[in-house]
Amino acid sequence: NATTVSPAHSASTASTLITNIAALVTNDPSLGDGTPLGLIQDAAVVIEGDRIAWTGDQSKAPATDNRVDAGGRAVLPGFVDSHSHLVFAGDRTQEFNARMSGRPYSAGGIRTTVAATRAATDEELEANVVRYLAEALRQGTTTFETKSGYGLTTHDESRALRVAARHTDEVTYLGAHIVAPEFAEDPAAYVALVTGEMLDACAPHARWIDVFCEKGAFDGDQARAILAAGKARGLYPRIHANQLSYGPGVRLAVELDAASADHCTHLTQEDVDALANSRTVATLLPGAEFSTRAEWPDARRLLDAGVTVALSTDCNPGSSFTSSVPFCIALAVRDMGMTPDEAVWSATAGGAAALRRTDIGRLTPGAYADLTLLDAPSHVHLAYRPGVPLVTGVWRRGERVL
Ligand code: NIG
Ligand code: FE
Repeated sequence: NATTVSPAHSASTASTLITNIAALVTNDPSLGDGTPLGLIQDAAVVIEGDRIAWTGDQSKAPATDNRVDAGGRAVLPGFVDSHSHLVFAGDRTQEFNARMSGRPYSAGGIRTTVAATRAATDEELEANVVRYLAEALRQGTTTFETKSGYGLTTHDESRALRVAARHTDEVTYLGAHIVAPEFAEDPAAYVALVTGEMLDACAPHARWIDVFCEKGAFDGDQARAILAAGKARGLYPRIHANQLSYGPGVRLAVELDAASADHCTHLTQEDVDALANSRTVATLLPGAEFSTRAEWPDARRLLDAGVTVALSTDCNPGSSFTSSVPFCIALAVRDMGMTPDEAVWSATAGGAAALRRTDIGRLTPGAYADLTLLDAPSHVHLAYRPGVPLVTGVWRRGERVL
């Protein structure tokens, strides 16, 4: 269908054909094999400007200005990492070491990173974000969400969001990560700050509001008040829910129509049913269970109940210091009951759903041209060849960046 590619073009709208793709994941079930992945064999993609212009059988590909030979490899949408905490300073190597000698993980470790983050300059925070973003890009991530939450003062939370906003549109205000150490004796005053002056300073720089609903952080009533205040300021809710223990987080997420309930490690049947009857995505973060030696979230149970599942890194220096979506895919397949197809869908289309986006996470005409080329004949190799750097090409907004 050559009419989808305009013949006249400037540099920015030049069309590029990527052809000789052994397996193309489109995430459009109306294409290819008819599964949710919409897998097309011997496929081609046409990029025009920053968008996908055409996807299909390579024998039917339209004429283009440029041509890239994928060499019989696999192409899939760039990963959508819908949960990370990249604005921080310092690391927690000792805490990790202690955990691997048997100490349990607790929310209290967040304080170590709060102290280091407050002491860092803007330039140091920015350099960290740039570094971990570059790391993620080399592993195929083309969209990422990131949060504040290691500042916990009006000044430090708003500067974290300003730093984040220079690198992504998916910025989340997490002033309610834990109660700031200064307020340990008066959590209600901290909630008042997070929903008052701090929210006023942060709302202009964020799209989302998040709260860590957990023992040692915020209870259900506090979380509801914080998310409701954010909603009233035009922020959309997402929640750290049911990570370390059973609790009200998931049901609160559904009650507030949050885009996503993140972690979902400890779920009752009532929680699973609530998710299944909602449009709230369950975002699973296996890097956290890996790095805290905790029990795995049960992806199979959620999928069998009809819940939409996303898979993300949770990249942060405490509970999950990985920027690698392929690593998370391998864990989800090996230990959480997902098939390779489901894990790849969750790390692309699932992440997009968790951010309520339809312009990313799929390779269909009109979507952003965010693509990952693997040095492998199939997306299944992401789980089949764990720990191997398979990402060999990345296009972001139509531009080849790797
Ligand atoms: O998503 N759960 C709360 N927040 C992070 C951990 C933060 C930290 O330990 O520094 C998480 O796992
Ligand atoms: Fe997190």
